[in-house]
Amino acid sequence: MAQDRDPSRLRSQRWFAAEGMRAFSHRQRMQQMGFRRDELVGRPVIGILNTWSDLSPCHAHLRERAEQVKRGIWRAGGAAVELPALSLGEVIVKPTTMLYRNMLAMEAEELLRSHPLDGAILMGGCDKTTPGLVMGALSMDIPVLFMPAGPMLNGYWRGEKVGAGTHTRRFWDELQSGGITQADWSEIESVSTRSPGTCNTMGTASTMTSIVEALGLTLPGAAAIPAMDAAHKRMASMCGERIVEMVWEDLKPTAIVTPQSVQNAIVALCALGGSTNAVIHLVAIAQRAGLSLDLDAFDRTAREVPVLANLMPAGNHLMEDLFFAGGVPAVLSRVREKLDLDCMTVSGKRLGETLEGARVFDDDVIRPLDRPVSGKPPLAILRGNLAPEGAVIKPSAASPKLLKHRGRAVVFDHAGDLYKRIEDPALPIDETSVLVLRNAGPIGGPGMPEWGNLPIPKRLLERGVRDMVRLSDARMSGTHFGTCVLHISPEAAVGGPLALVRDGDEIVLDLDGRRLDLLVGEEELARRRAEWKPPEPHYTRGYGAIFQSHIQQAHQGCDFDVLRPTGKATPEPDIY
Ligand code: FES
Repeated sequence: MAQDRDPSRLRSQRWFAAEGMRAFSHRQRMQQMGFRRDELVGRPVIGILNTWSDLSPCHAHLRERAEQVKRGIWRAGGAAVELPALSLGEVIVKPTTMLYRNMLAMEAEELLRSHPLDGAILMGGCDKTTPGLVMGALSMDIPVLFMPAGPMLNGYWRGEKVGAGTHTRRFWDELQSGGITQADWSEIESVSTRSPGTCNTMGTASTMTSIVEALGLTLPGAAAIPAMDAAHKRMASMCGERIVEMVWEDLKPTAIVTPQSVQNAIVALCALGGSTNAVIHLVAIAQRAGLSLDLDAFDRTAREVPVLANLMPAGNHLMEDLFFAGGVPAVLSRVREKLDLDCMTVSGKRLGETLEGARVFDDDVIRPLDRPVSGKPPLAILRGNLAPEGAVIKPSAASPKLLKHRGRAVVFDHAGDLYKRIEDPALPIDETSVLVLRNAGPIGGPGMPEWGNLPIPKRLLERGVRDMVRLSDARMSGTHFGTCVLHISPEAAVGGPLALVRDGDEIVLDLDGRRLDLLVGEEELARRRAEWKPPEPHYTRGYGAIFQSHIQQAHQGCDFDVLRPTGKATPEPDIY
């Protein structure tokens, strides 16, 4: 790529290299922090957007890692500045981090716009931080490189591999049914998450960092490097070095996120057996790049690309195993024929070049195409009179016998109602019932929490029942499993058909037909619709009120309507 290293075209130099009182003040204030004038004038200024916090265990190492990024930036002739951004620790933040993904996206975009930055490293990884940072960066569209936080080390309990999140629900169900003791449960709490880093399963975090690698926004192989491996520090330094070159090359994210690279990301999602949450996030990411992405693209690809990565929750291994087996490039090399190898990546190389030399070192962790992890598709999009705009299911993490099922609904109006009544002995429920949770969507939740893996009543667990058909307008943690139909759109809180279901109604789930139907006549549904009243809004002020007014539905990626591109660029800040 032609290298025009004329500093006068750097946007940071409008702040630092100009004449006049304002530029004097900008340089003066940087010198106040100990930067020399010549460390800022004439060089690309690179922002490090750091989502570290003391309440984000997955990002606990990012303060230290920023120092390695800075080392690479200075070495390449840039100037490194670190800026804090919303951290969004998935397990800790309530009611759900999804309420705040768009807030982080707005913050990332405006941090990049309002500061004297020529490029940025996006440091994230815990679930919503990846899409939030990428969405914001796409809207600002200056050169960026995503640096994944990396997964935590493998977890073990008494010799058994334990996956973060995946085993929490599994052991909880065992505790309820008497399979393990309270002392066992406490021991698992302290031993199973061994280090900083994102969940070690193919949950939402590793799904998103891996598909962002497939999109071309990370250095090749970055997503699977464990957070605590020395290679992670070296990768951080390389990110710093590379972003300076990206600025001189003017390699922007909209040149990388294209219809072809988005399709590559969907292929990666399927081969990895990734989280259903990725459907929402990828739709939102594509929209920020000015692209439209239909849910059917996911279903089409999932019919052709089986799950190859044998990782929990669909398989047996963990992210550290994927790293040793060759990482994301090795997975992509197995589905090379389905990829557009001409797509540009942040490395400055085409995807095909980055895959040269990619090899699989463990055929059990990354299966060959003729021996996939599951005969079922990685995910599927259902439609029907219960989900006119679509719903998502992950058949590879579901019970095969439940994928064609007809049962009677047991309806919960909201999560509070569910947790109040699920153990009620008078609840008419058995293993053939269909559990329905509504008012758990983008507006109803609020924020579409990960409540879609509804708990199974203790009395059924004691009888050995471990899975049931469950439906909701909520999401499900990517670390979880079960026959859960998710993201039903439109949601109940805006009058979607889920709002009309009543106890005892028959519901049919038919994976092969990609259908989800409520067996109630049109006339009766019209009568119920006339009686329906929307729930009271959760918020009357603040961010929540903004969220309620602007959030779009699941099939639209849950972005704010005002954050979609308009075709007219948001102006650069004036400096007077
Ligand atoms: Fe952060 Fe799972 S809680 S990645």
